[in-house]
Amino acid sequence: MIEIKKFTLSDEEFNKLRRLVFDAAGISLSDAKRELVISRFSRRLRALNLSTFGEYYNFVISPDGQSEMQNFVNSITTNKTDFFREPHHFDFLRDHFVPECLRLGRREVRVWSAGCSTGEEPYSAAMTLHTHLTEPHGIRVKVLATDIDTSVLDAARNGIYDERQIKPIPEEMLRKYFLRGKEDSAGLYKVKDVLREIVTFRQLNFIAENYPISAVFDVVFCRNVIIYFSAETKKRVLTRLSGYLTRGGYFIIGHSETLFDMVDGLTYLKNTIYRKD
Ligand SMILES: C[S@@+](CC[C@H](N)C(=O)[O-])C[C@H]1O[C@@H](n2cnc3c(N)ncnc32)[C@H](O)[C@@H]1O
Repeated sequence: MIEIKKFTLSDEEFNKLRRLVFDAAGISLSDAKRELVISRFSRRLRALNLSTFGEYYNFVISPDGQSEMQNFVNSITTNKTDFFREPHHFDFLRDHFVPECLRLGRREVRVWSAGCSTGEEPYSAAMTLHTHLTEPHGIRVKVLATDIDTSVLDAARNGIYDERQIKPIPEEMLRKYFLRGKEDSAGLYKVKDVLREIVTFRQLNFIAENYPISAVFDVVFCRNVIIYFSAETKKRVLTRLSGYLTRGGYFIIGHSETLFDMVDGLTYLKNTIYRKD
C-alpha cells in the first residue's frame, strides 16, 4: 500500500498563502477553504520534496521560486466547465444574437471567453456561431479565449476531450467539428481545424495592470469566474471587461452571479445576460 504523506496547515501558513493567492490572482479564500488549500498545495509540496506549507510559501516568494509562481496559481484555480454549460446562453446566441447580426448586415463578429478554462466554453460559442453565421451567411467569427491558468490553456489548445466531456455536444455538431479517435485514441475526440481557426487562446490575469488586448467584442462571456473575487475586485474587473464591449454588445455571466450595483452602462436583458448601453 502506498502511504500518502499528510501535511498540517497552521493558521499563520493559511493566512500567508491566502494573501499570496489574493495578490497573485484576486481570488479570495474564506476560512471554509482551508481543506482546499491543504489538498491543492500538498501536491506541490510533494513535487518539490518540501515538508511544510511554510517552506513552500517561503520558496514561492523567493527569487529561486519565481518559476513556481505559475504552478502556485494553477494549483488554486477551480476549472470546472462543460460544453454548452448553461445552454440557454448558446440558445441566446442562435436565437437573438445571430438574427440581430443578420439584420445589421454584420460581416464579422468577435466573442471573448474570459476565464475559458479547458476550452469548452469558447469552442461551444465557436460551434454555435460557425453553424449559424459562417456556414449559411459567410460571416467571419473570431473567438478570443483567455485564462490565468497555463495548464488549462495547454489542454484547451490541445483540444482533445473524452467521452464524458463531449456528452453535451449535439451529435451533428460532434460529427462536424470533432475527429473521432481510433485504435490507441479510441474514446477521444479532437477539435477539427475549422474550429481551431476560430479560437485564439491567450494567458490573461484579470487583475493585471495592463490587458494586452486591443480588440472590441460583440459578446463577452465571463461566467463562473467572478464568484471567486472580493466585491471590490469583482467591480474593478467587470468594469474593465465591459469596456471591451461594443455598444449594443452582450455581457454574459454565470447562473449564480449578478452584476447588480457592480457596473455602469450595462442593462439587464434576461437570465444573466446584459446589454451594453
Ligand atoms: C470555474 S472556471 C469557469 C470556466 C467557464 N467560464 C465556465 O463557466 O464553464 C473559472 C476559470 O477562471 C479562471 N480564473 C480565476 N482567476 C482568474 C484571474 N485572476 N484571471 C483570469 N482567469 C482567472 C480559472 O483559472 C478558471 O479556469
